[in-house]
Amino acid sequence: MADHSRIRCKSLLDKIMSAEEAAALIPPGANVGMSGFTGAGYPKAVPLALAKRIMDANLSGHKFRIGVWTGASTAPELDGALAMVDGVELRLPYQSDPVLRKKINAGEIEYIDIHLSNVAQFVLFGFLGKLDMAVIEVTGIREDGQLIPSSSVGNNKTWIDMADKVILEVNAWQSEKLEGMHDIYYVSDLPPHRKPIPLINPGDRIGSPYFACPPEKILAIVETNAPDRNTPFTPPDEASKKIAGHILDFLALEVKKGRIPENLLPIQSGVGNIANAVLLGLQEGKFENLTSYTEVIQDGMIALMKTGRLVTASATAFSLSPQAVEDVNAHMDEYRGRIILRPQEISNHPEIIRRLGCLAMNGMMEADIYGNVNSTHVMGTRIMNGIGGSGDFARNAFLSLFMTPSTTKNGTISCIVPMVSHVDHTEHDVEIIVTEQGLADLRGLSPKQRAKQIIEKCAHPDYKPALREYFRRALELSPGKHTPHMLDEALGWHIRYLHSGTMHG
Ligand code: COA
Repeated sequence: MADHSRIRCKSLLDKIMSAEEAAALIPPGANVGMSGFTGAGYPKAVPLALAKRIMDANLSGHKFRIGVWTGASTAPELDGALAMVDGVELRLPYQSDPVLRKKINAGEIEYIDIHLSNVAQFVLFGFLGKLDMAVIEVTGIREDGQLIPSSSVGNNKTWIDMADKVILEVNAWQSEKLEGMHDIYYVSDLPPHRKPIPLINPGDRIGSPYFACPPEKILAIVETNAPDRNTPFTPPDEASKKIAGHILDFLALEVKKGRIPENLLPIQSGVGNIANAVLLGLQEGKFENLTSYTEVIQDGMIALMKTGRLVTASATAFSLSPQAVEDVNAHMDEYRGRIILRPQEISNHPEIIRRLGCLAMNGMMEADIYGNVNSTHVMGTRIMNGIGGSGDFARNAFLSLFMTPSTTKNGTISCIVPMVSHVDHTEHDVEIIVTEQGLADLRGLSPKQRAKQIIEKCAHPDYKPALREYFRRALELSPGKHTPHMLDEALGWHIRYLHSGTMHG
């Protein structure tokens, strides 16, 4: 039995109920704003109970679907469970769940993939329709009723503010020592009266450590004791290590040229193997007094903090392995002053990213010879995850790097192609492309100059001759010589893969 010690506001105790009772309060057709960002801080019990309720409704012939809005990706207990029972009508703004992805790509679920910094204001202005309910995981409730956020902040402030009713999950698994780590910025003047956001350094605190929620909005409180979905850490593979090596050499040269300070600029690091490898590389490198203004805190960042090389990290969520969670929870007092979790419209805010001059490093699926980047679509039509925060950072960063192994699927796909099959980041927002083969610095280059750099520095040797040949023929045959293409062949590599299972000619 829970002792209710996390619910310090005694007047709210009568709102405690089971997950099943709370799920019964969510009506069919509701738009529900749920907490959760990269597997951290998502509600663990109500979505599962809701999935059961939806399954029962389906069995008795009633359609029951809801709109699911979150911070970013969640976990099988939320996205997986609701998708499995066909309970999702529309999903936004980001996902990475295999079951959900399959149903989106089968055309059974609508999905809107949105720049993560934009979601809060889209909801505030009503672009996405009405938000009916919020289901939010918190670490606890204070005596005065303020809510102590959990391991992610995401869009929770907006969900609590904008939803008609709020269901809280109070998760005793989350460390009580998270209290004080968050910074919830509450000023929201509307255009054209917005003021500058007073955040000058990654470590600045400009808001409150708590969410405010009128008690009358709280419909239900569910007590849980369940871990976040923490995926185990996989050590970087050879390709990731090589990519990290190219980036570290490049940054060292930029410092030598006096373009960036010796402690670099605030680092934004995307998720995944390559990003972690870069952070691990920084651990062994010579850069000190580093800061990070990023979206998620991953293992590599904690490791870098432990060495003392990374001083401060600002993000909206944790995304850690079980070992790293254990370490962070055990040393929370040390980390609390150095890690700040903010709403995602602030962690990813263009104004701040431009002011701080972030070094943005994100993964991609493919780039074309002119530097356009596809981060989201397999062969132009099937969504993988979503744009996430990559656009927020890439477009506004001091330097925008995109990284990928030069091939994937056992070499049958070249990640450098004549023309990308979907564009997330245009050539104007992509300054550096890196593969294990090398690094192409595209700054100050025209399209034709960029093509030469990308092919020569980044393409895999197996595909380099064919790319050179495409470019040579395009130069000859293209009606326009500024960005030469043969439109009837530009997507030929993708078409060949779809027909024969390989891009090899
Ligand atoms: N064509 C087809 N499939 C491709 C591909 C391509 N050009 N490039 C990669 N893939 C596949 C891989 O084969 C792999 O498939 P698998 O899951 O079946 O093994 C999968 O995509 C993931 O690729 P991987 O090489 O393991 O890289 P990753 O885990 O670093 O993910 C992205 C790369 C682009 C999918 C990922 O970085 C992403 O979702 N980015 C968008 C959001 C983002 O940047 N967020 C951070 C912002 S703060």
